[in-house]
Amino acid sequence: TESLVFDQLNRPLRDLRISVTDRCNFRCRYCMPEETFGPDYEFLPKTSLLQFEEITRLARMFVQMGVEKIRLTGGEPLLRKDLPVLVGMLSNIDGLNDIALTTNASLLKKFAIPLKQAGLTRVNVSLDAIHDETFGKMNGRGTKIKPVLEGIQAASDAGLNVKINMVVQKGINDHEVVPMAEYFRHSGHIVRFIEYMDVGNSNGWKFDHVMNKKDIIDTISKVYPLEPIEASYFGEVASRYQFSDGAGEIGVISSVSDSFCSSCTRARLSADGALYTCLFASRGTSLRNPLRNGASDEDMQKMLTDLWNGRHDRYSDERTEEGVAKREKIEMSFIGG
Ligand code: GTP
Ligand code: 5AD
Ligand code: SF4
Ligand code: SF4
Repeated sequence: TESLVFDQLNRPLRDLRISVTDRCNFRCRYCMPEETFGPDYEFLPKTSLLQFEEITRLARMFVQMGVEKIRLTGGEPLLRKDLPVLVGMLSNIDGLNDIALTTNASLLKKFAIPLKQAGLTRVNVSLDAIHDETFGKMNGRGTKIKPVLEGIQAASDAGLNVKINMVVQKGINDHEVVPMAEYFRHSGHIVRFIEYMDVGNSNGWKFDHVMNKKDIIDTISKVYPLEPIEASYFGEVASRYQFSDGAGEIGVISSVSDSFCSSCTRARLSADGALYTCLFASRGTSLRNPLRNGASDEDMQKMLTDLWNGRHDRYSDERTEEGVAKREKIEMSFIGG
């Protein structure tokens, strides 16, 4: 019953990233710096959040429009009460074969088994260092790596596929690149090194702060030789490399030095139910309002089709340092990366 929709650049809609909360128990400086997200910061009130029934209804419509993969994000998605219940509801949607989660894993140990039982397929864990000192600084809360590693182990034991995401900031955690590669070689978990991006308005991003794909690969290759391998599917955001000695693979997500907008098939739904057609959009379109005003499935699908058909975003292809300073963008913790 699937009917594909295409945007202005002929890109189909294939993935939906759903943010289930704008809150997080970490304060990573590149995402939710304490100065902005302090004790007085006003997070979304509960009534603004989409309910599980609303998320599931929207998800079903998106699947009918060609979405095959749903990723739950935050903020920190495991702070949303009863998340496994939502996973269970989504896993009943016909035609949806991949339900993934992006998490900081601090609470994953507790939730790994219920999530797997509910139908979750994969987990991407954010971990920016393998030593407590750097990690504690990065997460802004002094949290040690132990709970994160325990979360990864629990997820893996539960039968979930786990990948690790490391955002690399020059002069901040670039000395952890090789140790991270070393730690996860042979573990079966792919580490993806991510170029630091200019998301949101509060992280003070500059081109100088980015360790680019070439430098990441050169740095690791000096210690553990690497060779490029083919993408696992069309539009994969990470470029893949395998260790020449057979110890597994890594990925690099190069949204800054080598952007991938031309194959971007992702829509993003914020925790309060607005649709964003790009990570760097300044505003979204509320789906919650029509939903709560009694719109029919047909009305909603017409609206979604029109939104996607009109899409022409390609922010990362067009990024310039002057442009970065001028443009107003949505915060990453609100839209989930
Ligand atoms: P997989 O399905 O496992 O490949 O997940 P993913 O890499 O699409 O998602 P994940 O949440 O793990 O994100 C990893 C990094 O890629 C984060 O820094 C995201 O912000 C970034 N990313 C994901 N999608 C996009 C995108 O459409 N544009 C840009 N610029 N960055 C993206
Ligand atoms: N640049 C690159 N990646 C980021 N993430 C959060 N903020 C940024 C940024 N400024 C990552 C998180 C998580 C994923 C959803 O996005 O670390 O792994
Ligand atoms: Fe929280 Fe993830 Fe943002 Fe860090 S990057 S503050 S863990 S949402
Ligand atoms: Fe997609 Fe926007 Fe990221 Fe380009 S910058 S890949 S259009 S989300």
